[in-house]
Order: sequence, then C-alpha cells, then structure tokens
Amino acid sequence: MGKTKADIIVGIQWGDEGKGKIVDMLAQKYDMVCRSQGGHNAGHTIWVDGVRYALHLIPSGVLNPKAINVIGNGVVLSPASIIKEMEQFENLEGRLYISDKAHLNLPYHAAIDQAKERLKGDKAIGTTGKGIGPAYSDKINRVGHRVGELRDPKKLTAKIMEYFEQNKPVFDAMGVETPNEAELLEELEGYADKLVPFITDTAVMVWEALDKKGLRVLLEGAQGTMLDIDHGTYPYVTSSSTVSAGACTGLGLNPKDIGKVTGIVKAYCTRVGNGPFPTEDHGSDGDRLAEVGHEFGTTTGRKRRCGWFDAVATKYASRLNGCDELALMKLDVLDGFEEVKVCVAYEYNGEQIDYLPQDLENVKPIYKSFKGWEKSAGARSFDELPQSAQEYIRAIEEITNTKVGIISTSPERDDTIIME
Ligand code: GDP
Ligand code: IMO
Ligand code: MG
Repeated sequence: MGKTKADIIVGIQWGDEGKGKIVDMLAQKYDMVCRSQGGHNAGHTIWVDGVRYALHLIPSGVLNPKAINVIGNGVVLSPASIIKEMEQFENLEGRLYISDKAHLNLPYHAAIDQAKERLKGDKAIGTTGKGIGPAYSDKINRVGHRVGELRDPKKLTAKIMEYFEQNKPVFDAMGVETPNEAELLEELEGYADKLVPFITDTAVMVWEALDKKGLRVLLEGAQGTMLDIDHGTYPYVTSSSTVSAGACTGLGLNPKDIGKVTGIVKAYCTRVGNGPFPTEDHGSDGDRLAEVGHEFGTTTGRKRRCGWFDAVATKYASRLNGCDELALMKLDVLDGFEEVKVCVAYEYNGEQIDYLPQDLENVKPIYKSFKGWEKSAGARSFDELPQSAQEYIRAIEEITNTKVGIISTSPERDDTIIME
C-alpha cells in the first residue's frame, strides 16, 4: 500500500458549525478518525435515523463500527467525562485509542476554571467551566500530568498532592480545596481500571496507518477558528490551537501528512460565551435563527448568540486553514426568510475594510441582501434547491474565495448535498 494523507475537518466560525454531522457522514468512507485538540468543552451532535448522539471527547467516527478512533496528544482528557461517554457504546476495544501524551483534565481543573470565571465578574470569558484553560495552562507551565501516568496511580497521586502543597496559597485564595489523598488515589485507580487498556503511543499508530497500511485518515477539529488561542478573538477564545496547522502538533504529524482541508461553516453565525461577534443580531432575526436552528449548546445548554453569515471572517479563516472547500451547514434554517444577509465588509473608524482588526468589537458589519427562499430542508441535490438559495451559495463562494463542496439541509446524515 502506498502512503496516504490525512484529511481535515475544521470549524471556521465560533464552534458548533456542525462538525459532528459531517465527520460522522464522511467517517463511513474513512478508516480512522482522530481528535487533536480541545477536550470535553466540545459538543458534537449526530442524528442517525432519529436517534441523537452527543459526543464530547470520543471522535465522531465512533458510529461507523469499522472506523478506528484516536484521541491525540493535543487533547486535554477528562477521565470521568470519557468514561461516561464510553458507556453509550458497546465494546470499544480495538476501536478507541488514547495518546499516552494527552494531558489529564482532572476535577480540580474545573474548580479552578469556575473560580477564575467568578473572580472575573462581568469580564468573564464565558467558558464551559470544564477546566480546559487550567489543564492547558498546567501543560504549558510544565506542571500537568499526562494520560500515560494513569498506569501508576500511586505515583500520580503523590505528584498531584505535591502540586497542591506547592500552590496552596493560590488555591486557598480561589477557594479550591486540596484533594484528600486516599480519595484521590481511589479515584485515579478507578480511571486507570477503565482507561489503561486504551492508552498507547497514538502518533506511531497514525504513522503506520498512513505510511504502511494506506488507511484513509480523517482529523476532526473541535471548536472553531475564531476561538483559536492565537488567531481568534483573544482573550475570548479557548486554550488550544483550533486551526488546521494545530492538528499536526496535536497528533504528531507533519505538514506533508495533510491532504484535503474542509472548513465547516453554518449558513449564518453563532457564538456561545462572551467576546466580539460583528454580525450578532439582537432583534427578531437573531431570535428566529436561534429558535429554528435550535441554537442551544450541546455541552452547557446555554443559548447561542445568533446573526448573519460573516464572509469577511470566513475569508480570513479559509486562508488561515488552507480550506480546499467549505461545507455549508444548516441552510434549511434560513428557509422562509424574505431576505437573507451576508456581511461583505466592515466599517471601521469611518472606513470600509475587509480584514479583522484586533479590536473587532469596534467594527460594524456592511451587509449585502439576498432574496430569501421557501424550502431547502431535506434537499439532497443542488438542483433541488430553490433558485435564490443557489444564488446565495454561489455568492458565498465568490466573496469568500472558496468553493462550497458540501451543503447540509437537515441534522440527518443523508440530507446532505455533495457537489461534483
Ligand atoms: P459541532 O460542535 O460543530 O459538531 O456542532 P453541534 O453539534 O454543537 O451543533 C450543530 C447542531 O446543528 C447540532 O444540533 C446538529 O444536529 C445540527 N445540524 C447539523 N447540520 C444541520 C443542518 O444542516 N440543518 C439543521 N437544521 N441542523 C443541523
Ligand atoms: P465545539 O467543538 C462553541 C467557547 C466557550 C467560551 C470559550 C472558552 O462543540 O464546536 P473553554 O471552556 O474552551 O475555555 O471556553 O470557547 N467554546 C465553544 N463554543 N463550541 C465549542 O466546541 C466550544 N468549546 C469552547 O463557550 O466562549
Ligand atoms: Mg458543538
């Protein structure tokens, strides 16, 4: 078998674009699906034959019984969360592998996350409260613990107790309690019992899949480009690299291993948590998008902020990720609007610009209006779409300089248009 390349699915907006649906659909054609970053802050929803699956850490390839699922070194793993998630599926042995180099996200990380958010008051980021920032901070500060350390729970307990001793004044100030040593050991032993059989050096596995076995490998992004730690709306971002380039470090791949990059965008925009969102609509259009699109977080249940499609941000994200194509999701949610709008430029300090300034909160969107359409829901071919929906899609391609390769018209796997 010849050498194969890994394709990437990446979120282009502020997360929740519909990555789970597309990965699940494509996973029918891939042998291996890998997560490279994020943690259980992610919530990927998949509907198959009217049954809903919500995934947080397990890759969305899990519903294809033949696909191997990999959690790479760049992920922060909550053992409690993944163990609960694993219970939904029968016998994952041989179908799920977790990198020994991924970092542990333990209950005290969530306690720190929530305490920090409380202390920030109205400046809070609006995190998911799952400990993501503190777990990545510990990794970067070189005081984190890797998943492979679960192989020796006694040693890991001693290290965590030492860490608490060293940081006691800080934790006391935040109201974060030092764990009880015996209870911590018991907890870690419980995690080890369930997870150690799945822990391995996943980079070597993926190399073998690509170099020797010629397997088709898909990398599943979590969150979205505008939440990227470097390129997003800092500090209102998540703590990982959410862009396509980050998938390499998060799995131990190199840029030459990467094949096709598909950027996932909704036909409108949403954001959960705080931070700038130029096209946010506080009026009836925003309410209608939220209601029709069921825009409530999969992980926290929070109502998502909604607004029109932002082509300026999409063009930026498409360049950043090297998108070969876009998958345009939830087109059906726009059904029945008399007029739909696309932000084609920003007004900034009295000028018209088409880039994202650092103080994105100070831009005003400039819209182009399009005629609405009655019904796209359930369409499975481009020709089936109403004329004005086709025109809307063609305009998005032109403004963002990226072709639309996939169109999604309902949450179900099969209600998807693959463009020739
Ligand atoms: P992810 O985090 O990117 O995987 O996205 P989420 O699962 O958090 O949010 C996307 C939501 O939209 C989920 O509830 C999906 O079931 C749903 N969804 C995905 N594609 C479509 C679509 O084309 N139409 C509609 N109406 N819903 C969709
Ligand atoms: P998926 O993979 C949408 C947001 C949070 C908050 C910010 C930081 O389902 O698209 P964190 O807990 O990561 O420190 O929170 O990032 N956020 C998401 N928003 N979808 C997600 O994941 C998100 N993961 C984090 O709301 O604004
Ligand atoms: Mg989500």
